[in-house]
Amino acid sequence: MNIRVITIFPDFFASCLGEGLLGKAAANGLARIEIDNLRRYAAGKHRTVDDAPYGGGPGMVMKPDVWAAAIEQARRDLPGARVALLTPQGETFTDAAARRLAREAGLVLCCGRYEGIDERVGEHLVDEWLSIGDYVLTGGEPAALAVIDAVVRQLPGVVGCAESVDTDSFTAGLKYPQYTRPPIFRGWSVPEPLLSGHHADIKAWREAEAVARTNRLRPDLAALAAAPRTRLAVREPDDWTLAAVAAAVRAYGLRELAVVSGDAARRAALREQAGVRVVRSLAEAARKWDGERLLCVATQPGPGQMSLAQAATFIGEAPAGTTIFWGDPPPGASLAAPCWDESAAPAALLAWLDRVFGWPRASRGQPF
Ligand code: ADE
Repeated sequence: MNIRVITIFPDFFASCLGEGLLGKAAANGLARIEIDNLRRYAAGKHRTVDDAPYGGGPGMVMKPDVWAAAIEQARRDLPGARVALLTPQGETFTDAAARRLAREAGLVLCCGRYEGIDERVGEHLVDEWLSIGDYVLTGGEPAALAVIDAVVRQLPGVVGCAESVDTDSFTAGLKYPQYTRPPIFRGWSVPEPLLSGHHADIKAWREAEAVARTNRLRPDLAALAAAPRTRLAVREPDDWTLAAVAAAVRAYGLRELAVVSGDAARRAALREQAGVRVVRSLAEAARKWDGERLLCVATQPGPGQMSLAQAATFIGEAPAGTTIFWGDPPPGASLAAPCWDESAAPAALLAWLDRVFGWPRASRGQPF
């Protein structure tokens, strides 16, 4: 993969990129990382890259013409590369975003400084904005380094053991705890199952620990970890809604989609569609999935409304799994989600799913 960083501080990157797995990835030709000095594109003796802000105020703003020249050169040199601006106003960079970017032909990272870059650059010349978290750094360079590290780590062949790239990912929640010798250190013991030598026990213990610590430490990730145990049932969807929901179920890694229809002909037609369970009523679906927790996503406010975070935790905590119903609540269901306009219901369902399960989705923002 070709990565170019555009910065006014090229030396910032020198030592980090030569060390460890990043250095090896570069040496093995898996990642070619170039640092481009923005000043190359600036005119005049002083190669000025900034100017005073219109409207006054403190600090300087980076000039659009200099950035345009640098980005356009990068697009010529790395055809098809994705150009990202590092800014605290960007979409939060996640492990899923790292996996998405690792599939790009190339990546151009634009590091701003001072009070920012002229807004027209972000608006017209880049493909996306990335933030590495809700704090303000002195510039985009440390953020670009974090992005490079996480993306390069995802490239095939960079981490020796592909399994550890998968198990370390946040998709399945937090990772289980690890121990090494000695079995007792200062009186603190390694958990018994790990010493047993029974692979099935070890696997079960690790899975249970991963779920428990995800629920405890990162309840916001709990639903995500539980996605493969979660089903979705939708009542009487039109073709567009069904296609969109089916795509969402695949994208979020949910276990199954059920379609509920009172119309026998429609049920027969739907049964033709592979991967969709077809039932007559929500109550029937609820009976079939006996033992699972039922969560109804309502279009109207009602008793038992939950916040998204509560719903996510509810989904994550259910050991057997959860079935989310879209439609009237079947007996025994908990209600979740806010009140929506009925006419916008399918879009509201997708928005709700996106907020509970959405962040690993590879193609965020793109239509299904
Ligand atoms: N530049 C300044 N702060 C940043 C942040 N949090 N993420 C990305 N770029 C930044």
